[in-house]
Amino acid sequence: MTYLPPTRELRERLDTAQTLSRLFYREEAIVLACGGFVPHTPRLEAKAELGRTAWESALAADALRERVFELRYPARFLDEQSEEIVIGDGTELAGLLARQRDDYRAYLEAADELADGPSTRLVAAALRDKERQVEALAELELADGDPARDGRYFLSSFYWPDVLDPDYPYGEGIALQLRSAVSHLNEVWAVETAGRILRELSPELGWEFTSEAARWLYDETRHMLMGKERLEAWGLPTAKIPLGGYIYEAWQQEDPLYGLGMLGYFETKNIGRKRERARAFEAMGDRTSELDMEFDWADETLHAEYGRRWLRRLLEARGEDPESWPQVLERCEQLVRERVAAATPADLERIRTCADALVRTATERAVRS
Ligand SMILES: [Fe+2]
Ligand SMILES: [Fe+2]
Repeated sequence: MTYLPPTRELRERLDTAQTLSRLFYREEAIVLACGGFVPHTPRLEAKAELGRTAWESALAADALRERVFELRYPARFLDEQSEEIVIGDGTELAGLLARQRDDYRAYLEAADELADGPSTRLVAAALRDKERQVEALAELELADGDPARDGRYFLSSFYWPDVLDPDYPYGEGIALQLRSAVSHLNEVWAVETAGRILRELSPELGWEFTSEAARWLYDETRHMLMGKERLEAWGLPTAKIPLGGYIYEAWQQEDPLYGLGMLGYFETKNIGRKRERARAFEAMGDRTSELDMEFDWADETLHAEYGRRWLRRLLEARGEDPESWPQVLERCEQLVRERVAAATPADLERIRTCADALVRTATERAVRS
């Protein structure tokens, strides 16, 4: 008997699922490594890049995972992880990013657009991100010590005097513009906290957490950069801008459960004031501060929900009462109070001098412009 011949070279459906599973596990490993490295890299730009890479990689991983489920329909499972992935330092991360980029390229070259169009589309998007990440993270500097602080700034755990001295005014006008930008910059504590809980709680909470925590981390890096860029645009000297992270320091020796509590609680505590601040900036004609505040507020609404849900799930996963979360938050508050109580009068004096000088410099510039 004779038949018509095959007309296209195709990869088998289940082979495709296996290949995409392997790519998923690598993306997952990249997400976790980025989170874990965040506190150890000093430069804010590098922390931000790790956050962005974590988020983009989580998006790619999510799409790969869903595609594998489609290809295996009606079954819904991922193959066991077949290769051991170790990312112990920046060089190993760069190596894996490059390997992933090359494998995405090879996948696209071999793919059949007609049979496997949905994979082609998601792999092309993931490849575009990987190409950027490979460049951006080529020389990641990781320091010992936890957390690594960006030495270009005025380093002070307590980044504004009002943290230590409730009588120090939050400020109006220029002082308020500055206080708000310094707060955004100092969300570096939230960046580091999000990075660590992503790394340390993912094994307990699973992929859904990993994926949301990567977005959480990315959002906090954007909030940090909002402050950094406003302060830079006003031409304020970096060495006079305070950078600290007492909330991160307050929990860094503790169970990451408290990191989750801190991030879910202290980051969203001021949601109520954000609208009022945005209006104050609008009245000053400072559209950037106003819009940054509004976008930040949108993110925080999402984060408040992450915090509530994952704190309950974590307690549940540990066999504790999920409704006991208020105790976690109480302990968080206590840890922060202890960290604040450990500050000395010299710490207060030092940050007061720094803040007063920054307000003066900003005031002079505002008059001149
Ligand atoms: Fe934030
Ligand atoms: Fe947040």
